[in-house]
Amino acid sequence: MSESGKTATISLGEKSAALPVLSGTLGPDVVDIRKLPAQTGVFTFDPGYGETASCTSKITFIDGEKGILLHRGYPIAQLAEKATFMEVAYLLLNGELPDQKAYDTFVTDIKHHTLLHEQIRNFFNGFRRDAHPMAILCGTVGALSSFYHDGIDISNAASRNLSAMRIIAKIPTIAAWAYRYTRGDAFIYPRNDLSYAENFLSMMFAVPSEQYKINPVLARAMDRILILHADHEQNASTSTVRLAGSTGANPFACISAGIAALWGPAHGGANEAVLKMLASIGHKDNIPDFIAKVKDKSSGVRLMGFGHRVYKNFDPRAKIMQATCHEVLSELGIKDDPLLDLAIELEKIAISDEYFVKRSLYPNVDFYSGIILKAMGIPTSMFTVLFAVARTTGWISQWKEMIEEPGQRIGRPRQLYVGSPERDFTPISERS
Ligand code: ACO
Repeated sequence: MSESGKTATISLGEKSAALPVLSGTLGPDVVDIRKLPAQTGVFTFDPGYGETASCTSKITFIDGEKGILLHRGYPIAQLAEKATFMEVAYLLLNGELPDQKAYDTFVTDIKHHTLLHEQIRNFFNGFRRDAHPMAILCGTVGALSSFYHDGIDISNAASRNLSAMRIIAKIPTIAAWAYRYTRGDAFIYPRNDLSYAENFLSMMFAVPSEQYKINPVLARAMDRILILHADHEQNASTSTVRLAGSTGANPFACISAGIAALWGPAHGGANEAVLKMLASIGHKDNIPDFIAKVKDKSSGVRLMGFGHRVYKNFDPRAKIMQATCHEVLSELGIKDDPLLDLAIELEKIAISDEYFVKRSLYPNVDFYSGIILKAMGIPTSMFTVLFAVARTTGWISQWKEMIEEPGQRIGRPRQLYVGSPERDFTPISERS
C-alpha cells in the first residue's frame, strides 16, 4: 500500500476533510476515510460493504469486470491446469510457490496431521444420524480447539503455523467422516500414500474390506475443484473469519465461523441449490416457465448458479469447471445426463436473455460444480462441505495474514441508527 499522492476532499457545510488516496499493486485506488469522522463528524454508509476495502491483502486479486482471478499474482487458469492443490495451499499460506524440497516437506507435514484425536470419533456420536454434514463440520471444527489446545497461542508464529497445518490436514477427514456417519458407514482412516484429493476420495468411498482403486481422472477433477474454490478474496465467509479472528479468537473457532457463513444458499450453498433447481425444473420444456418466474421479482425465485457480487462479466472459474465437467462425464461414460442437458439449455437461454444480459448475470463456478460432484457420486448435502474443505486453505491464509498485520485492530463496523429516539421507560401497568 502506498500514498498515491492524490487527495479526496469531502465538504460538509463549514467542515471539510482532505482524505489520502491509497494505491495497491493492482485494482482501483481507495480513499482512506479513517480520519473522516474526526474531521467532519460523519461516518460512511455502505451496507454489505460492497464498496469498502476492509483490509490490505497480498493473497488474492479479483477484477470482476475483466473476469480476472489471481492468487499471489498467478492466474487461476494456470494454477488449475499446472499446479496441485497442495502447491496452491502452500502458495496461499506462504506467498510463493514451493521448490521441490519445500513442497515435499509441506506435503509430508500435512499428511502427518490428517488423523483426528481418537476422542473426536465419540464426538460424532453426539450428532443425529440425519444431521446435515455442514452442521457436523461446523461443530466438529469448532471443537478442535478443545483437542489441540497447544496450538492456539495466536501470538506465537510457530503455533499459528501448526494450527494452519492441522486445520488444512484434518478438514478432509472430518468432512468425509461427517458423510460416513450420516450413512452409518465405517470411518475410513487417511492414507499417507495418496495425494490430498485422492485421500479425500478414499475416505469418502472406500470400504474397509476392499482395496480402493483411485480413478486418476476423478482425482484430478477433485484436485481442480479444490484449487478453484481455495480462496476468493474478502467474500462473506472470509470476512467472517477475519472479523472473528480480529477479536483474538482461536483459529479453529474462526474457521468454524467461516463454515457457518459459507452454508447460506447465496454463498457456498449455491451448487446444492443449483441441483435442487434443476431437479425442480425437471424437463427442458419447463425452462421458459421457470425463466418467467425468475424475472418476476414477486416470485422470489432466482436462477441459482448465476450472478456474482464481484464478477460482472464472467467467472473465470466457471470456464475451467465447465471443461472439467465434460472430462468427468466422458470418463464415467455419462453421455446423456438429463441434468447436464438441462443445465446447458438453461445456460444457453439465460445468457442470451435480455434480463440476464442487462444485469450482467453469467454462470458462476457453482453452475457446473454441482453436476460434476453428482457424477462423481458425491451427495448433494456434501457439496458445501467440499467447498469448505477447499476454502479452509484460503480462510487460514487470510486469518494468518490478518493476525500478522502490524497494528491489527478488532473489526467493528458502525451503523446508521434508524430506531426510536431516546424515551422514558413506562411501567407495564401504564402501557396500552
Ligand atoms: N437470478 C435472477 N436475478 C438475479 C440473480 C439471479 N441469480 N442474481 C441477481 N439478480 C438480479 C437482482 O434481482 C437484481 O435485479 P434488479 O437490479 O432488477 O433489482 C440484479 O440482478 C442485481 O442483483 P443483486 O442482488 O444486487 O446482486 P448481488 O451482487 O448483490 O448478488 C448474488 C450476488 C447473491 C450471488 C446473486 O447473484 C444470487 O443470488 N445468485 C444466485 C445464487 C448463487 O449462485 N450464488 C453463488 C455465488 S458464487 C459463490 O458464492 C462461490
